[in-house]
Amino acid sequence: MGLFSRGSSTTAVAPPPIPSSVTPSLATPRPAPSISISTAAAETAPQTPQLTERQLYLQKTRVRIHQQLVERLDMQNLRTMPQDVVRQEVRNLIRDICQSEKNLFSSAEQETLMDQVMDETFGLGPLEALLKDPAISDILVNRWDRVYIERRGRIELSDVAFRDNQHLRQIIDRIVAQVGRRIDEVSPMADARLPDGSRVNAIIPPLALDGPAMSIRRFGSKPLAAEDLVRHGACPQEVIEFLAAAVRARCNVLISGGTGSGKTTLLNCLSRYIPNDERVITIEDAAELQLQQPHVVRLETRPANIEGKGEINQRDLVKNCLRMRPDRIVIGETRGGEALDMLQAMNTGHEGSMTTVHANAPRDALSRLEIMVLMAGYDIPMRALRTQIASAIQIIVQVRRITGGSRKVTSVSEIGGMEGENIQMHEIFSFEQSGVGTDGHAEGQFVCHGIMPRCLPRIENRGMTLGPELFERRIMKA
Ligand SMILES: Nc1ncnc2c1ncn2[C@@H]1O[C@H](COP(=O)(O)OP(=O)(O)OP(=O)(O)O)[C@@H](O)[C@H]1O
Ligand SMILES: [Mg+2]
Repeated sequence: MGLFSRGSSTTAVAPPPIPSSVTPSLATPRPAPSISISTAAAETAPQTPQLTERQLYLQKTRVRIHQQLVERLDMQNLRTMPQDVVRQEVRNLIRDICQSEKNLFSSAEQETLMDQVMDETFGLGPLEALLKDPAISDILVNRWDRVYIERRGRIELSDVAFRDNQHLRQIIDRIVAQVGRRIDEVSPMADARLPDGSRVNAIIPPLALDGPAMSIRRFGSKPLAAEDLVRHGACPQEVIEFLAAAVRARCNVLISGGTGSGKTTLLNCLSRYIPNDERVITIEDAAELQLQQPHVVRLETRPANIEGKGEINQRDLVKNCLRMRPDRIVIGETRGGEALDMLQAMNTGHEGSMTTVHANAPRDALSRLEIMVLMAGYDIPMRALRTQIASAIQIIVQVRRITGGSRKVTSVSEIGGMEGENIQMHEIFSFEQSGVGTDGHAEGQFVCHGIMPRCLPRIENRGMTLGPELFERRIMKA
């Protein structure tokens, strides 16, 4: 990856520079902070990882092997060779170097060294160890020596660190270059994604005050499916049944939620109910949707180039996609001027479209859409705009990351039309939190409010039947 990336020759060819002094490095286990440190200042101050003598020795050796590797490899030649052949060459070389020190390394240490040098040369250095763990959902690099991870809803400090800010910056450059973007003083923020589909945001000084920072949102090699959501207690099976039928019946669905609440995950799950013979076009700022259908065209926005030109935003893509004969449009997240174009598309022959919006309640989601349209400079009377929204969207699903870290579908609402100046909306299912358990996790129950959805005839017209008992007023089993 590093050898062949499109970046500058420093990032493309050479491994990260070797620091003259040995500093804590990639994937080096970080010993637990000493328990004798108890003052508030000591607890909050970032701690530099303390390495044992053996760890320092291994680290120095790794740096030395890296140096030798670069000296012995013919980079020009390597560029023209297939990557798996190059990998094998590098592996052999590392083995030779390790063997010349065979008295000093156990075979387990040799293997670890080899993996780490390979990660450093071709991969994402210290991040590789974290990316191999499927239980990690977020990797949050606050600075080179403070890498947090989220596992099963809990955020914890990981035991990996970069060598220094420069090392972290090089890995960021590699990631960003892979998707043809760049990050520098002129544009110090960038969105990118990893080959496995994980979404990446990087921000560097002067905007990030303590050195480069990076946030990685992972979806795992196998994204969560609706059954997984039910199994994790995100919602009862009946809620999925209803939403699946609504999607098949081409209702337009808006998923609303806060940061990291599970909007994209749910959008992905629901998109599976789109029939295979319908043409779907997805529009995203940083592609993260993983639609399984064969008839999908994926579009991604492009930021401006170094002269500030060439930007293609979501609105441009929505307009263009209308000329691509889509049956349905899926917008990863609606956040600006594309809102009105999307509403119009939903109203005019692209029923069954879906999107997400950043909001804390279903009604707030509608207000956000109004604001987005108005901020884009359209001068539309409020009632006309609301009528447009009310006829474009049928279902609003609210998701939330609740106390304790788990994600839940906290409300499924249906839009009933206009009532005077306001959009009328009724809740079909909801999650009512009753408190927090001794384990720190929220407790509560799912409730069905006993309202027959207005979209039921539409679902039946498509040959699907949902028994009336599905919508009986009751407390549901999660
Ligand atoms: N029901 C769930 N159970 C367990 N994990 C979940 C669930 N829903 C989402 N996740 C995990 O939570 C993380 C955040 O999910 P997701 O990216 O879908 O949220 P989001 O609301 O789209 O976030 P953002 O606002 O950053 O775009 C992901 O790692 C995802 O795998
Ligand atoms: Mg998202």
